[in-house]
Amino acid sequence: MEYSNLDVKKDRGLGWIVINRPDKLNALNSDTVKELYTAFMSFRDDPVVKAVLLTGAGEKAFIAGADIGELSQLDFSAGRDYVLEGQELTKLIENFNKPVIAAINGFALGGGTEIALACHVRIASDNAKMGQPEVKLGLIPGFGGTQRLARLVGKGIAMELILSGKIIGAQEALQMGLVNHVVAHSELSRFCEDLAQEIVDNGPIALECAIKAINEGLDKPLAEGLLLEAELFGKCCATEDSKEGTKAFLEKRKPDFQGK
Ligand code: COA
Repeated sequence: MEYSNLDVKKDRGLGWIVINRPDKLNALNSDTVKELYTAFMSFRDDPVVKAVLLTGAGEKAFIAGADIGELSQLDFSAGRDYVLEGQELTKLIENFNKPVIAAINGFALGGGTEIALACHVRIASDNAKMGQPEVKLGLIPGFGGTQRLARLVGKGIAMELILSGKIIGAQEALQMGLVNHVVAHSELSRFCEDLAQEIVDNGPIALECAIKAINEGLDKPLAEGLLLEAELFGKCCATEDSKEGTKAFLEKRKPDFQGK
């Protein structure tokens, strides 16, 4: 598949999706949203790819938001359709069957923060700048920001960020739990790759079940979340991977997971 706005590659079991519009600070026009959807779908069913890393091309930006030129043209129904398409992408990422890591290498504004919020793990370089500045354009976040930001960092902090539209640095993002780690810009890819490799050494079905349990459980009352956990635990127990993982521990060797 040829992409106009992405650089997509596979390397040692990891799928890399690099948004490649550096002259526009990797702003998300609708073609890029469509291509991202296609790229994630291609990795979803690719047995070679065990985890996905998402980043932006160039030194300055992860994603500087939705394309403001396109936003300026929207009326009520086009605006609603536009964000519904973006939300399909963020739902695909959030519920992806393999771990997805955002390597936030600079500006992650508006849709950039929202795409990062949908990823399972967020790692920021020390030059990252994040925020939801949509209100400065007379808009609100539309790719899930009003929903996922509050769920991740709490309602009070989300209200402040979204109502002020202010841009925060990497350390502040770390402090509020918006990102998991901050690393030197030059170390970002290596750090994310090492973390991804550490993750994909684990049982792939267990990873998929853990993502599902956490995502779906958070939207349920605790008792229902625990039932879901029990169902998924049972599902894992019925896999060859769990037999292999437990056997390997008892035999003091590394497990050889087959994803079965
Ligand atoms: N949509 C469309 N184009 C964008 C963009 C966006 N969200 N963000 C940046 N660009 C474009 C700029 O228009 C500029 O294009 P040009 O060279 O053709 O004029 C290019 O990317 C570089 O951006 P520039 O503003 O010159 O870089 P900067 O370093 O001075 O400023 C930002 C960087 C991120 C502070 C600034 O680009 C910005 O505020 N962008 C919009 C962020 C935003 O509001 N995002 C949320 C949208 S919902």
